[in-house]
Amino acid sequence: MSTLVIIGTQWGDEGKGKVVHFLGKYADYVVRYQGGNNAGHTIIFEGKPFVLHLIPSGIVLPRKMCLIANGVVIDPESLYEEVELLKTKKINIKNRLFVSESAHIILPYHRYLDELREKSRIRIGTTRRGIGPAYADKVVRIGIRVCDFLDKEIFFSLLDNNLKEKDPLLKKLCAPKSIRQNIVRNYEKLKNFLKPLAVDTGILLEKAIRENKNVLFESAQGTLLDLDFGTYPYVTSSNPVAGGVCTGAGVGPTKIDEVIGIVKAYTTRVGGGPFPTELKGKTGEYLWERGLEYGATTGRPRRCGWFDSVIVRHSVRINGIERLALTKLDCLEGMDRLKICVAYKYKNKIIKEFPYSRHVQRDCKPVYIEMEGFKGNIHGMTKYSQLPLNARRYIEKLEELVNAKISIVSLGRTREETIIKDKYFPWIK
Ligand code: IMP
Repeated sequence: MSTLVIIGTQWGDEGKGKVVHFLGKYADYVVRYQGGNNAGHTIIFEGKPFVLHLIPSGIVLPRKMCLIANGVVIDPESLYEEVELLKTKKINIKNRLFVSESAHIILPYHRYLDELREKSRIRIGTTRRGIGPAYADKVVRIGIRVCDFLDKEIFFSLLDNNLKEKDPLLKKLCAPKSIRQNIVRNYEKLKNFLKPLAVDTGILLEKAIRENKNVLFESAQGTLLDLDFGTYPYVTSSNPVAGGVCTGAGVGPTKIDEVIGIVKAYTTRVGGGPFPTELKGKTGEYLWERGLEYGATTGRPRRCGWFDSVIVRHSVRINGIERLALTKLDCLEGMDRLKICVAYKYKNKIIKEFPYSRHVQRDCKPVYIEMEGFKGNIHGMTKYSQLPLNARRYIEKLEELVNAKISIVSLGRTREETIIKDKYFPWIK
């Protein structure tokens, strides 16, 4: 048996899709355990970029089983569209894609409520996909699960109660009646679509683990967007951290073998919230252009900044990470100097651990060390020893600062543009 969790160690968009795709070759099962269609995983399929929001990216690899487990919030319309898109690419999902019958669903009113909040003073820059409101309903116990959606009588009674409760808020943005009509119109189509996909994914997983299958858990977003461990309130409403696998997929902690953190060679963030190493001038623009830093879901430009070892060290600790995959190293090529944040300064005090106070997060200043940059095209390099000395020095400094080994170095979007630095890697034969 071998189970592997892939985690984002920053604010998401670290390049998890590429690494999942790379390691997914060795997996029998690829599982999403939290988040929803707020995620956007870019993968290269037959030479072209392709974005999946909800379905695990393993679906593009033949014969992989893909599960959307109970911790995910599922927008049936969005899932339907994604499956239709896969069909146009001749990717078959039959008997390969399953969703948990106890996962909660996102309905159009969740999207309206998300939008309403984003129009108010407490906006945080969400993806407006209804993620927060759907998780909120789950927590206050008025959520609708896949199995409830499939039972017409239960579904409409829950729907009407929910619409009644949310009526005063929804009225501010639209006519609640039209929301209901829209749901009614699509109901049979979506119910028939979901029915053959809905199972107890926990039981499938238990069997897979017992049969020594390789299972890859694919997180969405990143540790600094985690509801408990991120830059609250500028976070998503789920737990992307490795511990989220236990509750989000129904797998006990003793069944998790390895956690691999994905880390970008610099830092990016979409949406609002603190970002101590953010670069607003030319250097930030350079990273933005080199890294094509646009959100895969919303198309929003990502904010860019230097590598922040305070947040990555925090992620390494929270997730129990021993090995990291470093992505987008190629985007730093050509810069004269590289800065790495090693601590924060706040009111003349040096802070080495991630601070939870929103004031400290907002007002702290990064303390940097500087290293020489590297030049020359590193694309196409397949051995660690081929990398320029200064690139290797940068990598080794990061390892030292974040207390974890960098096992994989990614130099581009395709599978081929990957260096395996650390021979120990359980899945790579
Ligand atoms: P929500 O998840 O749509 O509620 O958005 C909450 C915060 O998480 C916002 O700052 C979003 O920009 C951010 N976010 C959500 N999903 C992703 C993602 O896949 N990558 C990066 N940021 C994300």
